Amino acid sequence: MNHYLSIKDIDNLDDWVTQAKELKKQPKAYKKIGEDKTICLLFFNNSLRTRLSTQKAALNLGLEVMVMNFGSEGWALEYEDGTVMNQNTSEHIKEAAQVVSQFCDIVAIRAFASLTDKEKDEAEVVLNGFKKYTSIPVVNMESSVGHPLQALADAITIDEQNTKPKPKVVLSWAPHPKALPHAVANSFVEMMQLQDANFVITHPKGYELNKNITKDIPVEYDQNKAMEGADFVYVKNWSSYVDYGKVLNHDTNWMMTKEKLGHAKFMHCLPVRRNVVVEDAVLDSDQSLVVEQANNRTYAAQIVLKKILESL
Ligand code: CP
Repeated sequence: MNHYLSIKDIDNLDDWVTQAKELKKQPKAYKKIGEDKTICLLFFNNSLRTRLSTQKAALNLGLEVMVMNFGSEGWALEYEDGTVMNQNTSEHIKEAAQVVSQFCDIVAIRAFASLTDKEKDEAEVVLNGFKKYTSIPVVNMESSVGHPLQALADAITIDEQNTKPKPKVVLSWAPHPKALPHAVANSFVEMMQLQDANFVITHPKGYELNKNITKDIPVEYDQNKAMEGADFVYVKNWSSYVDYGKVLNHDTNWMMTKEKLGHAKFMHCLPVRRNVVVEDAVLDSDQSLVVEQANNRTYAAQIVLKKILESL
């Protein structure tokens, strides 16, 4: 595998989940595979889980790790061709990406959506800029459009917890005071399209995700109806896609409660705002899988890095 940019780079989800679960049992089993190789983690945005789990995964595989908070410590990058760079950008992606390639064997990048320019966000200028100008594999640690490491960890978590041949899985929108990107929801939807599950999305009108991603997945605007018989409920806020980046309402009725959850397992990528997105009683119950999801981020990253290292 050359790059891990989206869920589409997974050739066989079942096989990857099985291998990730094996790595979870013996995290250091492939300690030699990354020997004398280096991964560079570039963060244009904040992180807790992605940073630590990807670093842990790399260390488990014997890789050297370099981490840079590019957003706060790097030069402001220019992505357009032919720009007269006499404004705020100091370095072009062409040089920056080639320079990074000299220092490491794999580069992993986090660069969120701006939520102000849909066209630019969908062009994935940072991720694709690095992909275009580096000579090394690129890993997506959450881009404008997707968070495929999170979705792979979510697939591992569902596989570990599922007891049914075809579970019911609900992706439920939740209120949030700030406008958040669509990346987590998009990748979760794409991952669920590879699963044998009864999958439904629920959100208020106006929060429809990109139809090119959701395709024929059913949308139920009545949250209570969507939740009926659910085995797993993945809760996530996202801003409007149609009215791009806007917060259309703060309807607190969409917060996930213990009563609504019933007997289902609760999932969220974290970080989560307590008593806004989900009430304490859910997060503090045995039904919450959020900490195990975060734990599985290591093994999701580890199977991705292992596959890349095998192809170098
Ligand atoms: N879920 C997730 O990506 O967490 P961080 O933003 O803390 O990395």
